[in-house]
Amino acid sequence: MHEKTNLAVLISGIGTNLKAIINSIKRGYLNVNLTVVVANKNAPGLKHAKEFGIPYHIVPQEVNGKKIQKEEHDKKVMDVLDGYNIDLIALAGYRRILQEKFVNRYKCRIMNIHPSLLPSFGGSLYSQKDALEYGVKISGGTVHFVTEDVDTGPIIIQAAVPVKDNDTAETLSNRILEHEHIIYPKAIKWFSEGRLKIVGRRVIVKGEIKASIVTNPKYQLKRIGVDTKAINLLADKKGDFVLVEDIMPREAQIIKQEMLGLGGDCAIPKEGILNNLCPIDAIIIGTKKQLNILTKKLSANAFNLPKLAEILSDKVNVK
Ligand code: GRF
Repeated sequence: MHEKTNLAVLISGIGTNLKAIINSIKRGYLNVNLTVVVANKNAPGLKHAKEFGIPYHIVPQEVNGKKIQKEEHDKKVMDVLDGYNIDLIALAGYRRILQEKFVNRYKCRIMNIHPSLLPSFGGSLYSQKDALEYGVKISGGTVHFVTEDVDTGPIIIQAAVPVKDNDTAETLSNRILEHEHIIYPKAIKWFSEGRLKIVGRRVIVKGEIKASIVTNPKYQLKRIGVDTKAINLLADKKGDFVLVEDIMPREAQIIKQEMLGLGGDCAIPKEGILNNLCPIDAIIIGTKKQLNILTKKLSANAFNLPKLAEILSDKVNVK
C-alpha cells in the first residue's frame, strides 16, 4: 500500500460515479491518486477521464466481433492495472463480473457500488425497476467489497432513499444516483485513510467524527447532498461553515434544531436523512457566538454529541 492510495476506476457506462470521484479529488475531499480509468468498451464516461487528463484504457471484450472469455478479458485488464501499482479498484457501473483470479489478486481491494439496499435486489442490472415492481417503500445504494459472488461482499456503506408513489425506474434511479455520488467517495476516503477493517462479513469503520472549517462552502454543500435549491441560500449565510464528517443523521437533526433555535443553521443532505442509519456529513453555519453556545449544549447531549463538542473546542477553536 502506498502512502497515498493509487486508485483505478473501472467503468462501462456514462460514468457519473467516476465524475463524482474526480470532483472529490479535485476539490480536496479525497486525497488519492486516480491513476487510471479502464473501460470494457468505448464508454461515454471516458470523457471525464479525458477532460481531467487521467490515463485511460479501453479493453474490449470482443475481438473481431467475437466475445473473448471472461478470464481472458480479466487478464488483459489486470495487465493494464499492473502498469499502475494499484492499491484500490473502484467498479463504477462496470458491467462485467470479475472472475476468481482477478478477485483474489486484489482481495479486499475492490469496491463496487450497487443501486439497491443489498442484499435485496442484488445480481440484477435492473435493481431499481425490480425494487419498484416489488413495491418496497425504501430503496438506496450500497458500496461493498467485491467477492467472487456478485453483489454479496462485505458492505461498507449504504444510503437509504424513499420510494415515491409516482416513481418510475428512471426517477428512482436518479434519486439513488445522487446518494451514490455521496457514499462512493466517502467509502474510498475511508479506505485511503486505512479506516476500514473487515471482520468476517462486517466492515468496521475505525476513527471518529471530524470537524473542520470549510473555505469552499458551495462545493461542500453540494458534495454532502444538500438540496440544489437551498445551496445558494445557505452559502450566502454569515458566519463560519463547519464541516462535520461521519455523524449519524439523528445527531445532525439535533444540531440543526439547536442551531435554528440560535439563529444559525445546519445543512444536511436532502432525502433519505430520516431513513438513513449510515454516517453522513453536515455543515454547521453560525457565528462564533452561536457556535460557542451550540458546543456547550452538545456537551450535555446524547449519542456522540459530547465528543463532537470536544472536537469543536479543540480543532475548530470553538470555546
Ligand atoms: C450506478 O447506478 C451503479 O450503482 C451501477 O451502475 C450505475 C453506474 O452509473 N453499478 P454511472 O455510470 O456511474 O453513472
